[in-house]
Amino acid sequence: MGKYQLIATAAMGLEALVAKEVRSLGYNCEVENGRVTFIGDEAAIARSNLWLRTADRIKIKVGEFKAFTFDELFEKTKALPWEQFLPEDAEFPVIGKSVKSKLFSVSDCQAIVKKAVVERLKKHYRRNTWFEENGALSRIEVALLKDVATITIDASGSGLHKRGYRIDQGEAPLKETLAAALVMLTNWQADRPFIDPFCGSGTIPIEAAMMGQNIAPGFNREFVSEAWKWIPEKVWDDARMEAEDLAKYDQPLDITGSDIDHRMVRIAEGNAIEAGFGELINFKQMQVRDISVSKEYGVIVGNPPYGERLGEKKAVEQMYREMGQAFSKLDTWSIYMMTSNEEFEEFYGKPATKKRKLFNGFIRTDLYQYWGKKPPRQ
Ligand SMILES: C[S@@+](CC[C@H](N)C(=O)[O-])C[C@H]1O[C@@H](n2cnc3c(N)ncnc32)[C@H](O)[C@@H]1O
Repeated sequence: MGKYQLIATAAMGLEALVAKEVRSLGYNCEVENGRVTFIGDEAAIARSNLWLRTADRIKIKVGEFKAFTFDELFEKTKALPWEQFLPEDAEFPVIGKSVKSKLFSVSDCQAIVKKAVVERLKKHYRRNTWFEENGALSRIEVALLKDVATITIDASGSGLHKRGYRIDQGEAPLKETLAAALVMLTNWQADRPFIDPFCGSGTIPIEAAMMGQNIAPGFNREFVSEAWKWIPEKVWDDARMEAEDLAKYDQPLDITGSDIDHRMVRIAEGNAIEAGFGELINFKQMQVRDISVSKEYGVIVGNPPYGERLGEKKAVEQMYREMGQAFSKLDTWSIYMMTSNEEFEEFYGKPATKKRKLFNGFIRTDLYQYWGKKPPRQ
């Protein structure tokens, strides 16, 4: 088994959660802006792809160095051990980005990195012709930040938010990674009731169900690195077997998703069936103000409309008021609402126990947290 420097990329604000997940997989890690870095073998590549719920993708760091000139970029890229990662038939497109660096022409940087990798491989494979590139895909990225070039290979393929269950969606679906983060930020345990009163296409209830049964989020999809010859098939078989062993398919769940729009309820049901939770999550058409519960010590997590669209502001504010009234008696329940509306607490009628800044794409939001009473010790 080799040792690789791995990067789990993270959306702004989710780095600490990604780090927690990486640590619970058994790897020490360092947290930086937008990424968590750790060292691991081939199994770590498979396991992190399969298990990380809040990371965007897994990359392998091939090298990192200062580069002020194109010559430097070329020579230092050529000096990296590309033959370890790229067989003779590898397809290796190069993408790039540059921030606050002397080498600002991204297309030139990409072309130079491509040329340097080709030069290195030509020498290694004793070729003087172009490579056909008709084998497995290894997408290289050159990312320049303040004149430091980080050269990586993407080991995920589609972003990790693509779990494979979303067959349909509404207007503003939550990214699966952020939905998982919301559930992780609550104190929910699988034996407690869970409600998403604004379920839309069902992302939050489905992510909660996967967490409740400890199902690896990547179990039902493929990763680009599964096709790489240098990672033995057994590594992936073992990682999938581990995921299968750790899944708690018998864990009962009490998860409900509701939405005012019956079309969204149908879509959520379809997605839940695709995710394997057709029987396990209850979906119903209901307005938030009509929610009433008989159970105790549950968790409510929601991503309501923010009221940013023209003409909907007043209606959304009124809906927040009605929600505050409907939830006012649930003193054993913990309630978490993510919205960009800065006056949410006033409309809801209660100051939050805690607020946490989160970005929904480019929209800055707060997760308003209302912690309920703790259950009595048993
Ligand atoms: C931002 S979307 C939620 C998206 C969802 N998290 C997903 O991943 O698809 C907000 C949802 O709230 C629903 N909604 C709006 N007003 C409502 C109300 N008064 N009661 C319940 N649901 C409402 C909308 O139909 C919409 O599906």
